[in-house]
Amino acid sequence: MRSLFLAGFMGTGKSTIGPRAAARLGIPFVDTDEIIAHEAGVSIPELWQREGEAKFRDREAAVVRRYLDEAPHVVALGGGSLLLRNLRHAVLDRATVITLTADAPEILRRVGDVSTRPNLAGADPLERIRELLAAREGSYAECHAQLATDGFDADDVASAACAVVQRDPIVLPLGNRTYTVDVVNDAPEALTDAIARTAPSSLVIVTDTTVRRARGHVLDRALSHLAISRIDVTLPPGEDQKSITTAQTIWDAALGARVDRETLVVAFGGGVTSDLAGFAASTLLRGVRLITVPTTLLAMVDASVGGKTGFDHPAGKNLVGTIHQPRAVVIDVAHLSTLPVREMRAGLAEVVKIALVTSEALFQKLEVAGASLLDPKSPALLEVIRDAVTLKARIVRDDELEGGKRALLNLGHTVAHGLEAHTAYRKYLHGEAVALGLCAELEIMAERGFTPRELVDRTRRLLMALGLATHAPRDELRAAARFVMTDKKRRGATLAFPVVMALGSAEVRQVPLDLLDRP
Ligand SMILES: NC(=O)c1ccc[n+]([C@@H]2O[C@H](COP(=O)([O-])OP(=O)(O)OC[C@H]3O[C@@H](n4cnc5c(N)ncnc54)[C@H](O)[C@@H]3O)[C@@H](O)[C@H]2O)c1
Ligand SMILES: [Zn+2]
Repeated sequence: MRSLFLAGFMGTGKSTIGPRAAARLGIPFVDTDEIIAHEAGVSIPELWQREGEAKFRDREAAVVRRYLDEAPHVVALGGGSLLLRNLRHAVLDRATVITLTADAPEILRRVGDVSTRPNLAGADPLERIRELLAAREGSYAECHAQLATDGFDADDVASAACAVVQRDPIVLPLGNRTYTVDVVNDAPEALTDAIARTAPSSLVIVTDTTVRRARGHVLDRALSHLAISRIDVTLPPGEDQKSITTAQTIWDAALGARVDRETLVVAFGGGVTSDLAGFAASTLLRGVRLITVPTTLLAMVDASVGGKTGFDHPAGKNLVGTIHQPRAVVIDVAHLSTLPVREMRAGLAEVVKIALVTSEALFQKLEVAGASLLDPKSPALLEVIRDAVTLKARIVRDDELEGGKRALLNLGHTVAHGLEAHTAYRKYLHGEAVALGLCAELEIMAERGFTPRELVDRTRRLLMALGLATHAPRDELRAAARFVMTDKKRRGATLAFPVVMALGSAEVRQVPLDLLDRP
């Protein structure tokens, strides 16, 4: 179990809810203000006066970090403890963070005597509370869940907080657009709850006919507990559906049913479905909410998380699109029970990619588990999916718009896109092309002395163990390079290329295009 950190403004009930949650979870409760006051031997207001806010924040950060290393606790934080981005993200990585909320007048009522609150000093404490709440809104939103405490019974709030700890979602902190990813095994109610949390006016369910046939009954079960009207848009399957025409089909169905801005689009399927449904959601009525429910391994570890949406254009793949983050992602590995093994392998290629650029530990896990990962029931698979999503979420958190390190996720993709285009998207699944692209790109970088030679061999061995091909035919590689060069030359003579310096550590370099031009 992770520790539970309770964040939020003063007066939102952290020290009321904290002990109740701790009792339910059977772990100790601590309050950082009490620890700081105890260790300093003076009260918090005195300490602020003596040392100033900056010094106090240092003491606070030290206490927070100490509890990250301890056995699980419920930790009530000061109202400003997690305002520093790095500390907040360190806590989100290792604990469950719940922000408690209440409105400004209720906070003032609960705080009572403001003279003991140095931060509320001034003529109009209510206005000051409003100001601080507005300034901190984006930081407070970066949490695993926000729970309102005004008008709610403390025991109910504590029990809701414990449920989040037990759910243990992965968080993608993006200010007010923060969302969580649940990874579950055969738990349709996870989707029911995620939809209920968004309280939509109606649902637009986007899926494809294959997924509808294989997994539709699970979706229907999840929705059967919700009294919300639904529109189903069931598309033919396949990459060639990723066009503006299909986006139009989704728009037509939704607008034909007169959905309003409170509607929720649910993308139920693979990456093709989430790219299209995501695009439709980002443009319908200038943007409505989206939940992605990936049913392929590739979509679970890659396409459903991170907000990239869009479709293909005759000039190339994914050339039109938007960034529109979902409100939640619900990954149920049970969906993989009907996925063809070839699609499983293709998904694992993307996991190998993310391990190469971010995590030696994940790479080793993949090596140890090997072909057992092709069994959707394998417990190792669930863990690997969680790891891959966690790692991708960290990259997106730091570089949502791909100004820098998000480009690391393109490792293998320059060559892969060339191979896919050259073979008209018929010969290879995307993940298969990525496996070939990873090997080709690592090879090029090893020849230039950047990537250790033994890592190229080790990656090939891993991909082979997962049942993936690692050598594209020479003529295809040459044609792929030609394709990429003519395509990219229109945009410039260099290419942003992810370079793996050591296992789990990579950087994006601008390299000349002719790098790809190998005999
Ligand atoms: N937006 C992003 O960040 C991102 C990232 C990676 C890939 N992508 C995109 O994702 C697409 C590839 O995704 P994909 O591999 O999931 O393809 P896909 O959506 O075409 O799904 C592959 C096939 O599996 C079938 N299928 C899906 N779930 C199933 C299940 N549970 N049981 C049986 N059959 C099932 C589908 O009907 C389809 O035929 C590409 O278009 C790629 O560009 C997007
Ligand atoms: Zn990919």
